[in-house]
Amino acid sequence: MSFQIRVAILGATGAVGTELLELLHSRNFPLADLKLLASPRSAGRTIAFQGENLPVEAVSDHSFDNVDLVLASAGGATSKAFAPKAAEKGAVVIDNSSAFRLDPKVPLVIPEVNPEAAATHQGIIANPNCTTILMAMAVWPLHQVQPVQRIVAATYQSASGAGMRAMEEVKAQAEAILKGETPPTECFPYPLAFNLFPHNSPLNDQGYCEEEMKMVNETRKIFNAPQLRISTTCVRVPVLRAHSEAINLEFGQPMPVAQAREILANAPGVRLVEDWKANYFPMPIDATGRDEVLVGRIRQDLSHPCGLELWLCGDQIRKGAALNAVQIAELLVARNWLKPMAATATVAY
Ligand code: A2P
Repeated sequence: MSFQIRVAILGATGAVGTELLELLHSRNFPLADLKLLASPRSAGRTIAFQGENLPVEAVSDHSFDNVDLVLASAGGATSKAFAPKAAEKGAVVIDNSSAFRLDPKVPLVIPEVNPEAAATHQGIIANPNCTTILMAMAVWPLHQVQPVQRIVAATYQSASGAGMRAMEEVKAQAEAILKGETPPTECFPYPLAFNLFPHNSPLNDQGYCEEEMKMVNETRKIFNAPQLRISTTCVRVPVLRAHSEAINLEFGQPMPVAQAREILANAPGVRLVEDWKANYFPMPIDATGRDEVLVGRIRQDLSHPCGLELWLCGDQIRKGAALNAVQIAELLVARNWLKPMAATATVAY
């Protein structure tokens, strides 16, 4: 990589934005310039980066002049308002919100799963939902060897998925409850500390919430498997920043446990964590701050000859968001896909 990229982070003051900054630094991304954008609330703040105090600017239509790449993580409404404008100005936007994920013109990319889809971008690439990324990282390598016919998953999602303020709220709730006071509930509808509740995103007519449908629809798009049968239950748990998932897979043919272990032990971005004697398996505290998705407790489903059970934990902010976005950026640079491809290109879905 000999050329340098002018990057803007939209949502630079948030949980994912903070991690994006760390990753651009630690992965030595070829930066020519870095612009930090957030809401007017943060204008005038500075953030230290590589020995400099960079100013945070309130995002505006002019923020994307002379920018090659935008890493956006400021919510769906902000992305809807600004991503098309940035793309019009010639930047490529890697968007962490759900705004464009199911748009057929927008590739939805996990570099370990469907890197080629990124080549079809028309200025915007969507970063999938965090629970979807973590599940796909474990399921895709198995699916490549023995096609999966049905996925049933339950998630145990940390506060970080709702942003930095939500993480602070859980800590404040725990303190308040321990003091016998009423816990604050601004980000979440109910106390999360010492509690859990089904994911509080809007429900559809079939009783599934938005988060659950993201796992269904996004996995289908990423796997290019529009008919894949998927059912999920998403639950928010009082963990700060790594998500866990219990996943049941049904294959067309039996997938021996030993084979599944070997496949996952060699899968990129996955780490097999199993100590059966010690009853030690992936835990959110071990996944926190790590790049890999930790997978374990792989066992034959007692109720189905072609079924397999597994358990995973992954850092929601890292592989579930910021790391995946930076990996997409690295992919664009490495394959020279940074400028939009032919305007007629469409995503294979
Ligand atoms: P700000 O800190 O100025 O509110 P998190 O996911 O941790 O809650 O972070 C959300 C990020 O998105 C923050 O950087 C936040 O900036 C930014 N953001 C939220 N709303 C807007 C907006 N309307 N315009 C630009 N940035 C926004």
